[in-house]
Amino acid sequence: MEKMMMIATSLNELRDARRLQEGTIGFVPTMGYLHEGHISLARRAREECDHVVASIFVNPTQFGANEDLSNYPRDLKHDLTLLEAAGVDLVWTPTPELMYPPGFATWVEVEGLTGPLEGAARPGHFRGVTTIVTKLFNAVQPHKAYFGQKDAQQAAVIRRMTRDLDFPIEIVVCPTLREADGLAMSSRNSYLSPEQRTAATILFRALTTAKSAYERGERNAGSLRKVMQEVVASEPLAQLQYVSVADYDSLEELETLTGKTLLSMAVFMGKTRLIDNFVLE
Ligand SMILES: Nc1ncnc2c1ncn2[C@@H]1O[C@H](COP(=O)(O)OP(=O)(O)OP(=O)(O)O)[C@@H](O)[C@H]1O
Ligand SMILES: [Mg+2]
Repeated sequence: MEKMMMIATSLNELRDARRLQEGTIGFVPTMGYLHEGHISLARRAREECDHVVASIFVNPTQFGANEDLSNYPRDLKHDLTLLEAAGVDLVWTPTPELMYPPGFATWVEVEGLTGPLEGAARPGHFRGVTTIVTKLFNAVQPHKAYFGQKDAQQAAVIRRMTRDLDFPIEIVVCPTLREADGLAMSSRNSYLSPEQRTAATILFRALTTAKSAYERGERNAGSLRKVMQEVVASEPLAQLQYVSVADYDSLEELETLTGKTLLSMAVFMGKTRLIDNFVLE
């Protein structure tokens, strides 16, 4: 018989449940409202580890003052059903009060890598991410932790933090899962009106057009940025925030493509902010 999935809300419950687990632990941190992208991370962890722990926590400190914290989508019951079906053993669902008690004053910050792109567009975002991921890592004590390539800069920042702070954890970055029309799966896609949902393929189309130009031999980063800007500009419902053609490791903007390159962008569809990226090897 399959073991029941355990749910821990307090640190003591989590630690008690973790003490019963032997062997390797795979960890999948999420903000809930789960989709196939999240589940692909859980399945990968299931394949690679003896036990799979997931967390669901909408982390207030990674949201800016003008962002969507208060109306962030939630459906814990559905999330638990999906995680159980994916073979997750233990779900950690802490409260904001537990994670940030009165007087909380300790932050984890990665310099440099967090400056451009999402870091520039969302001041304070990565400080919130690295602080909460540190707390989750310390609570769960996994051997491997699974993140999605959709959030490319987040994955790079977490990798750097893990190395710099000597966390004994292997960071596994998993491919971006997409809807049939190319839109990267995201919990925030649920905000889109039907018209915006159709138009939201513009990110994938812009990245695909730039990739085709690259495959035809284009190596000028400015030209690739222009290609992506023009494709996004062709969609009246989309408002471009940034496009980037950057070195995959340093995230510094390039003039000429030589090595591994990250094409990325952030686009507003009305109030909904979407990101996507391709990696050119
Ligand atoms: N389409 C996807 N494919 C693979 N992994 C994904 C995808 N979307 C999110 N993830 C990963 O799931 C983990 C949890 O992300 P999160 O809960 O923020 O989901 P999300 O869909 O990105 O939500 P939001 O759009 O609100 O940020 C992160 O490691 C993220 O990179
Ligand atoms: Mg996200």
